[in-house]
Amino acid sequence: MCVRIIVVLAVLTGITGSPNVTIRPEVDMPAHPNSVPETVEDAEIFGQQEVLEEEEAEEDVMATGELNPNHYPAQRAAKVVQHYLNTRYGSPYRLFGLQRVHSGNAEDVADSGRKYQLEISVQEMISNATAKCSAEVFFAMGEQQRSAQVQASCEELLKIDTKAQEEAFYQQYKMNQSLLPAQNLPDSYGHIEPDMKPLWHLGTVASSFVMLNESTENTLYNMAQVANITQLPTENDQLKFDYHILLHEMVSQEIIHWKLLFTWSPAGGVKVLHMEQLPHCHDCEKPINTK
Ligand SMILES: *[C@@H]1O[C@H](CO)[C@@H](O)[C@H](O)[C@H]1NC(C)=O
Ligand SMILES: *[C@@H]1O[C@H](CO)[C@@H](O)[C@H](O)[C@H]1NC(C)=O
Ligand SMILES: *[C@@H]1O[C@H](CO)[C@@H](O)[C@H](O)[C@H]1NC(C)=O
Ligand SMILES: *[C@@H]1O[C@H](CO)[C@@H](O)[C@H](O)[C@H]1NC(C)=O
Ligand SMILES: *[C@@H]1O[C@H](CO)[C@@H](O)[C@H](O)[C@H]1NC(C)=O
Repeated sequence: MCVRIIVVLAVLTGITGSPNVTIRPEVDMPAHPNSVPETVEDAEIFGQQEVLEEEEAEEDVMATGELNPNHYPAQRAAKVVQHYLNTRYGSPYRLFGLQRVHSGNAEDVADSGRKYQLEISVQEMISNATAKCSAEVFFAMGEQQRSAQVQASCEELLKIDTKAQEEAFYQQYKMNQSLLPAQNLPDSYGHIEPDMKPLWHLGTVASSFVMLNESTENTLYNMAQVANITQLPTENDQLKFDYHILLHEMVSQEIIHWKLLFTWSPAGGVKVLHMEQLPHCHDCEKPINTK
């Protein structure tokens, strides 16, 4: 019997302690928002969560010093860098995903917050180029309204030239402002029509503004689905969109609905005009005094 326990323990340790566990960026292959994660990688991440919870139960403070690159604290901070890069440099043809955390370090900054120093690999999802980046993420303490401050250098990934495709997309949607009703990107089979992909990328970039703003040391946000898109009349040469998006918060396992009004042009990039969290769906489906 003892032997069996040891074998089980060894197997468990092998899984949760594997140095090769990475969080796959979900942008290109998202799970259906209502589905329970099924892949091995997700299972491994949940394994880590258990390990992490044990650690947190022992001491009620955040991990400090050198971090395990595969555990949540480093992964969460690194995910914020992904959102930051998308808000700064994203477009319908440029979308960043966290590929891997190589190393991480966290330190308390006297009474003001916590700073993470990270070495990560970031992938540009459309060209598939990958580069190593150094990044610093600072979470302010006490001020819940303030989003994380990020510095990152990923020059390699910014060399990818997407101008021609962006200009073509811009002209297409500027000329033709009657966008087909676009819904459910991806659909429940995880599929996105090729001509809808730039709109999905654009929605993911815009969602990164929400995810950057909402992220804390205790969250891990992913884009799950674009529920629907409405194109509004172009203003000041900026394409204008209204998106209803679903975000997946991995720690609480919540699906969160947001409405996003934003503009985009090749020169202006994404500018969010309005973001609003919508009530949980069991609330929004309740009929409101329909008489
Ligand atoms: C871990 O990754 C390295 C290189 O990335 C590889 O050589 C090694 O076989 C992997 N180990 C496991 C357990 O997958
Ligand atoms: C992207 O790179 C991965 C390996 O890093 C490869 O498996 C995949 O086929 C590539 N996809 C494209 C579209 O080039
Ligand atoms: C970020 O969120 C806070 C509330 O959490 C809000 O007050 C602030 O306006 C948001 N920032 C943007 C750019 O919408
Ligand atoms: C313009 O939009 C309409 C309706 O969405 C669509 O049928 C048509 O193919 C589009 N034309 C061009 C040139 O994109
Ligand atoms: C967009 O999708 C959401 C969620 O499915 C739904 O509540 C909303 O009514 C839809 N809006 C439009 C304009 O289709």
